[in-house]
Order: sequence, then C-alpha cells, then structure tokens
Amino acid sequence: MHKVLIPLLTCPVCHGELRKQIMKEDPTHIIDGEFTCTKCKQKYPVIDQIGVFIETKEPIDESWKKLEDFKKRFQKEHPIQYFLLTKTFLGNIKAEHHFFKGLLLEDDRILERATRRIYSKDYVIGYEKTKKALWEVDTDNFPVILEIACGRGTFFKQFIRSRQGSEVYVATDFSLSVLQSDLRWLRKNGLSEQVTLMAFDAKAMPFRDSSVSAMVSNVGFPNIRNGDDAVNEAFRTLTPDGILVTNFMFTSEQTRNYAKAKELGLDQFYIRKSTEEVFRKAGFEVDLHELYRGEVRPTPGGIDGLPIVPDTYSFCVLKARKPAIA
Ligand SMILES: C[S@@+](CC[C@H](N)C(=O)[O-])C[C@H]1O[C@@H](n2cnc3c(N)ncnc32)[C@H](O)[C@@H]1O
Repeated sequence: MHKVLIPLLTCPVCHGELRKQIMKEDPTHIIDGEFTCTKCKQKYPVIDQIGVFIETKEPIDESWKKLEDFKKRFQKEHPIQYFLLTKTFLGNIKAEHHFFKGLLLEDDRILERATRRIYSKDYVIGYEKTKKALWEVDTDNFPVILEIACGRGTFFKQFIRSRQGSEVYVATDFSLSVLQSDLRWLRKNGLSEQVTLMAFDAKAMPFRDSSVSAMVSNVGFPNIRNGDDAVNEAFRTLTPDGILVTNFMFTSEQTRNYAKAKELGLDQFYIRKSTEEVFRKAGFEVDLHELYRGEVRPTPGGIDGLPIVPDTYSFCVLKARKPAIA
C-alpha cells in the first residue's frame, strides 16, 4: 500500500484515528503491517501490499471468492474436463465455456475473445467507448486517483501502461480474493509499483472527509447493493472541487428488463433519471453524456443477470463534481 495514503486514512467504522505498525516496507510502500483504530480498537491489516479495511458488520457477498473456490474444485474434481478445456484446442466451444476457460487460465486474451462472442457488437462498442472516456478525463494535478469496485481490473489493466502522471492509482474492491488475483496479474506484467490495491466497502471508505481528489469507477455503482450510500460516501470523501467519473448502461422504464431489475433491486442505476437524482441528492454537480446507443442481448449461460430480453441501451459517462464550497 502506497505510503502517500497514510495521512488520508481513518477508521471506516467510527472515523477514529489510526495507529500504524509496519512489519515490512520498502521506501514507498507498506508491504506487511497493521492499522489499529485508537477509538473502536478495530484492526486493519496490510497483507502482501494490500490494505484490508473491511468493515465487518455487513456480510460481504464474496462472489469472487466463490469463483476462486469453484475453479480449484473444478480442477480437482473434473480433471478430464479441466484438461480438455484448458490444454486442448476445442474448435466449436460454446461462448460461455470459452469465457470460463479464460477465467480458469486467468488469460485476458481468451477472455477478450470470449467477450466478443458473448456480447452484441453494439455492446462491445458502447462499453469500450465509455471505458476510454473515463480514462481520458483530465485527472492531472490530482495526487491520488481512487478506483471504486475495480473487480478483475478490466478497466485499469487496459490502460495503466499509458498513464504518464505521477499520481498514485489506487484500485479498490470489497473482495480481497479479486484483489489478490489482480496482484498476481500486476506482478506477472511488472506493474505492481503502478497500482496500489485496497480492500474496503465503497459504503464505508477508510478515508477522512474531503481527502481524495479524484475517483473513477467502471460500471461499479450498478453492482453495489444500495449504491446510493456509496455515492454519498464518495461525496463525503472527495475534496471540494474533486471529481468522480463513472459509466452506466441505461434502459428505459417501459422495458421488461427494467421490471426485472426492479425485482432484483438493481433498478436505481439502470435508468438515467434515478441515476442523476441519486448523484444530485448527494450534493454533486452532474454532467451526464450519452456516448453511444445500440442493441444488446441476453448473455449465454446467465453470465450477466441483465438484460433478460433484447434491448436498446444508452451507454453514458457521468462526471460528478463536488462543489468547491459544499
Ligand atoms: C463487475 S465489477 C465492475 C467491473 C470492474 N470495475 C472492472 O473494470 O473490471 C463489480 C465489482 O463490484 C464489487 N462490489 C460490489 N459491492 C461492493 C461494495 N459495497 N464495495 C466495494 N466493491 C463492491 C464486486 O466485488 C465486483 O468486483
């Protein structure tokens, strides 16, 4: 964990001061250590470079951990299928198995090819456009950029090599297992110095009020349950004049997909109106742009829960600014 972050930190549970203990470090990073809250006594370890600031009251939906466990079990319990899938060339492999093969091998090229089969052409174009736009937002002069809900790092892995600035890039997620797989990738590609990884709940960030100048999230908010709390938390944590940029894929209210999203409790960031409302209500100045509109279809093998029927999506980028005088 980059040492630049130390003065910004606070206890994510009670916002008390943290006392640090460093077991292993290099000139710029804490490698192993522990932070202890002087008020509520909660402990937060730094394990192999990853700061773990998990607020433990709410159970974490560890889908990534389940996937890691499943990958290990699959290899042990189905050695022949594992061999066939990973070590042989299967000509007419189904798109969802192609994707699973990429996950098993942690091979981004396979995953990219599978992605092109799973999603519609418009989806791939629209999504790529919004990702690129997020990366191109001018974040010069921001000492720290925090990525919220980074998952497998589809976003930062694509762009991190092109980053020229001296800012510290912090990729965060509440799943420690996904961050550990991101760390494996960063080490394999000689990029572990370029990204600091931190585990925390986006609804309880371990940062002081008005301490972080820029945040980015690649389709993170629609994946956070009660995501409006994460928007409020981002507002608290950002410096005045700080920005948050993120992307969305919107449907419209009359669709079956929207009805399904409501059933699943995923409707808040699935339409433009309520998304803008959430950010405005938190106090942000909002600038929301459609970059692309195109046809989407359900993914095979239930890879994504939505859409359930073909639809037209609006691919948007949202730039939210915390007013200079809040
Ligand atoms: C599908 S990923 C988003 C894509 C990702 N940003 C990328 O570029 O690859 C959604 C992520 O949100 C994370 N997540 C869900 N709820 C969260 C929360 N409350 N706090 C932090 N991360 C959360 C999940 O663990 C998952 O990794």
